[in-house]
Amino acid sequence: MLSRRQAVIGSAAAIGSVMAGAAARGAAAAAAARPFIPYGACVQSELLKTDAAYRAVLTSHCQQITPEGGLYWADLRPTREQFRFAIADEILDFAMANGMSMRGHTLIWYGAMPEWTKEIAGNRNAERELVSHIEQVVSHYRGKVTTWHVVNEPIAEVKNGEPPGLRPNIWMRWLGDKYIETALRIAHRADPAAELIINEYDIEAADAVSPLRRRALLDLVRGLVERGVPLHGVGLQGHLHGERPIDRDGLYKFAVDIAALGLSLHVTELDVIDDALPGPPPVRDTVSAARAYDFLEAVFAAKRPAVIATWGITDRYTWVPVWFKRTDALANRPLPFDENYRPKPLWSVIDYFCRRDI
Ligand code: XIL
Repeated sequence: MLSRRQAVIGSAAAIGSVMAGAAARGAAAAAAARPFIPYGACVQSELLKTDAAYRAVLTSHCQQITPEGGLYWADLRPTREQFRFAIADEILDFAMANGMSMRGHTLIWYGAMPEWTKEIAGNRNAERELVSHIEQVVSHYRGKVTTWHVVNEPIAEVKNGEPPGLRPNIWMRWLGDKYIETALRIAHRADPAAELIINEYDIEAADAVSPLRRRALLDLVRGLVERGVPLHGVGLQGHLHGERPIDRDGLYKFAVDIAALGLSLHVTELDVIDDALPGPPPVRDTVSAARAYDFLEAVFAAKRPAVIATWGITDRYTWVPVWFKRTDALANRPLPFDENYRPKPLWSVIDYFCRRDI
């Protein structure tokens, strides 16, 4: 008998033939009922200006978007004095013009810091910089950005099988682990209605690393909730690896524990990294869709997420080859639409879960 997973993945072929042309795509989207759970994708402002098909696939399918760039310190703060909101403002305008909401990615991330921040030194100086950045950025988008990824990737990498602590960054160096509490409190003060989450990756695989990262993340968020810190949810980035099975029970248990703390769950950056999968696209696409199905099934079994968002929407534009380029010269295929904007089995899986009413 066909499993539900096989049936959902298999429906992509039928959808693909129906939705081949841009006109058909628009008609199908208009006819489709509004999903129960918003689907979102990260977007690049330059592409919004240059690629009409890119805009079309976003407006036909997304209820939310996340700036891929624009809100990183490196983009917003080229110098200490500047707040350059232009890129993220353009993305916000696109969202509002098309009835979508915008997520804020991100207030704190070690990964995209401008050079000048290396000069930050001393507890008072660091606190002043952190507080003023969050106050100004969250106030600028008050009432517009509904959900902030306040801290992105706070958990350190696992080394030698040891439980990880918090990831080193400039704020850890000068303020210690209380930087997270400070960031959440300041963001909450600047926009009390905004939903504030912590966003993390590598917590879902059936490997030696994920259980340790889950434990560290759970300990972190539990401590914050117990101290009454304004934290409202946890983001599972969901950068799945095609060759790694999902730890269904471990992920389910984690999601149950998060839900029991009264926190929401968000799937924030789903894609399937395919550098270690076999070459033929049909095989790869099927395996990738199955991984995403297992991941979403485990989350949904515990609690319906607030959003399912992918990190990009089309294989034409994706961060994956920067870090996980294939060695066989074939292009990566991590996203729900292919390089010609045709829906893939991964889209069928996302669409199925977005519409599922339980
Ligand atoms: C990537 C972006 O896609 C790039 O454009 C950027 O230059 C670097 O980072 N997890 C995250 C994202 O939270 O911020 C990363 O995005 C991908 C991994």
